[in-house]
Amino acid sequence: MVDPVAVGFGAGLVLVFVALHFARGTGWEATADISEEVVERRASTVEETEFPEPGNRAIGGGSAPAGAVAVGEEGELEGGEAVEESTDPGDIPEDEIEHYEVEFAKEGETIELSNDETVLDQGEEEGWDLPYACRQGQCVSCAGQITSDGNAEDYVEHDDQQMLGNTELDDGYTLTCVAYPRDDFTIETGEAP
Ligand code: FES
Repeated sequence: MVDPVAVGFGAGLVLVFVALHFARGTGWEATADISEEVVERRASTVEETEFPEPGNRAIGGGSAPAGAVAVGEEGELEGGEAVEESTDPGDIPEDEIEHYEVEFAKEGETIELSNDETVLDQGEEEGWDLPYACRQGQCVSCAGQITSDGNAEDYVEHDDQQMLGNTELDDGYTLTCVAYPRDDFTIETGEAP
């Protein structure tokens, strides 16, 4: 037999849950994330250190990362040691750029080459299809022969070429992909030793 009290109690309970389900919220809203603000406030109270310290950097302090070297305005290290100059022969300040008359014998033209770009690049800019492969001075695909008197390096400066020995250089051979003009000369392109 069904107990009317139990049924009534059950129905009441259901009504309470339904009422709670549809009741309006309390208007509570989550607090804004203030963690960044707290970190910044803490960072402003921490003294900067003279040495790299990852933990300190994390809250805004610290100095340069480990391994970094501070360079003064004069291009000197803070200890007074001079900074190494660039060894790239094409790294020439604008006011020191010079031009030379270079005769490309096979192409039948004499053009002005600047001292901050390679012979190969400047020949290509003329629209000539000059030979090359690695463009890094590590093969001889781009070789040419400077037929002006003397060693090739009287006329061009090579950027780290490893392929030509003294005899080849004496015979005027050059790797045009890494050769920066330093004087007027005549060159036969596509001539390897
Ligand atoms: S292209 Fe290889 S050395 Fe110039």
